[in-house]
Amino acid sequence: MSGRRHALLALALVAASAAAGAQVPPAEAAEAGRKLYVSSCTRCHGINLVTNGIGFDLRTFPQNDKERFVRSVTNGKGAMPAWGATLKAEQIDLIWAYIGSVNGWKPAASAP
Ligand code: HEC
Repeated sequence: MSGRRHALLALALVAASAAAGAQVPPAEAAEAGRKLYVSSCTRCHGINLVTNGIGFDLRTFPQNDKERFVRSVTNGKGAMPAWGATLKAEQIDLIWAYIGSVNGWKPAASAP
């Protein structure tokens, strides 16, 4: 039953890295961010960031302006509602990681 043992080991590793919190590896952060994006943002910003004409085209968001991203998402902008009461700062970070992964941003340049 080594297959089962490997599955359990993998599960334990995922649980351990999730418990590490802030040190979530980028791939896992992007995946967690993708889920948040799908449930909160897709309806206005489109599937995989491909704008449906309602919200800003997030494929063009400047990589070097995370501060603006966090501010606009937290407080809202124009027709976009504020997310500060719905999403925690860590969750907004995860969505940022997801957007970076879709846009192919290099990790070094996306540092604040
Ligand atoms: C109800 C529709 C709607 C939803 C849902 C929505 N947005 Fe938006 N978003 C907009 C619109 C409209 C704009 C353009 C606002 C403007 O510049 O007037 C926008 C703009 C933005 C911008 C650009 C802000 C700037 O500084 O120019 C970002 C970043 C953004 N949205 C992120 C998100 C994220 C992340 C989510 C999910 C948590 C989300 N939006 C959910 C409608 C929406």
